[in-house]
Amino acid sequence: MIMPSRPSRRSAIAALSVGICSLGLSHSLLARAAVTEVKVGVILPLTGDKATFGQESLNGLKLALDKAGKDAPQLKIQVEDTQGTPAGSAAAVNKLISTDRVAVIIGEVASSNTIAASTAAQSAKIPLVTHASTNDSITLGKDFISRICFVDSFQGAVMAKFALNNLKAKTAAILVDSDSDYSRGLRDSFKQTFVAAGGVIKDELVISYSQKDRDFKTQLMKVRKATPDVVFIPGYYTQVGAILRQAKELKLNTKFLGTDGWDSPDLFKIAGAAAAGHYVSSHFASDDTDPRVQEFVREYKVRNKENPGAMAALGYDAGFFMRAAIKKAGSSEPSKIRDAIASMKNFDGITGTITIDKNRNAVKPAVIVTTTEKEFKFLTRVNP
Ligand code: PHE
Repeated sequence: MIMPSRPSRRSAIAALSVGICSLGLSHSLLARAAVTEVKVGVILPLTGDKATFGQESLNGLKLALDKAGKDAPQLKIQVEDTQGTPAGSAAAVNKLISTDRVAVIIGEVASSNTIAASTAAQSAKIPLVTHASTNDSITLGKDFISRICFVDSFQGAVMAKFALNNLKAKTAAILVDSDSDYSRGLRDSFKQTFVAAGGVIKDELVISYSQKDRDFKTQLMKVRKATPDVVFIPGYYTQVGAILRQAKELKLNTKFLGTDGWDSPDLFKIAGAAAAGHYVSSHFASDDTDPRVQEFVREYKVRNKENPGAMAALGYDAGFFMRAAIKKAGSSEPSKIRDAIASMKNFDGITGTITIDKNRNAVKPAVIVTTTEKEFKFLTRVNP
């Protein structure tokens, strides 16, 4: 369907406002009444090696929008597959802005993709909210870009402190995905916190791999030789699953620590028995006993026949958050929606309470989960 162009909508509102004001209603009330429907672009990796992220996000988002029902504002979503690449993400944003004329965009997931997408959105002055990209640089210097998740300077520090204090680790190795801004940022934040507290990470134990790699034995042999107390892998499930499996084949019995990029049902399919016994930071755990989490889990399972991961929960929160922001803006104008997003406070999500700070990041807790062969299990919540 085609949305009315912005000027025609505005003149319709102006015409209406003469009538309503003569009835004594205020402009702000009128503005609120005026947003009935807003076109929202959604960019997700629906195919490629991060496809579960896109699928889960979309399942969660659709559940939220259906649950919100018929009340205004209605969010008309236009979904584009980025194929999980920076180029695909930039192309998706450009299409949504110039062809579909969306007022606001939700996505992407992987930080490098969101960085590419946000450059395009910022220059067109169309607000973009990422539900999942955690690299610190994403919102910096881009006033139309915001996020509803925590940042990696927090996530990396959470896992470094967990290694030091809970696992009593003194030495660590890091396996870094050299194709990912996300992974490089987490390498730095983990290392900084771990070393500042007296932990040791030798330079030769900060080891790179590529998203194109299938064989990680060279990297793992270096780790096996050095026997660090823990190995931190800030990566995505496709590579991490293979790394865990190959580590077990090499009889490397180290504890692995991971981050939100592990949070996929496919991690367990790829790693099998080697998935068990590790610690991972994330945004959500499906066995969290919070009643609102459990309500979401039940509803999600009925529709999708599987347990929701963090991505599904973030997609769900993104739907309700965006709806609340547009309602607050009382307008379908991108700059008004941008201002409303930037000033959202105490939004009660299932991934935590979301308050957008001055850098347009959400300050909220992380969860740490452990892994079995089949699933993630809630361990603890860490406040910022
Ligand atoms: N935080 C990851 C990134 O920035 C994306 C992600 C979020 C993956 C949540 C899984 C779950 O690249």
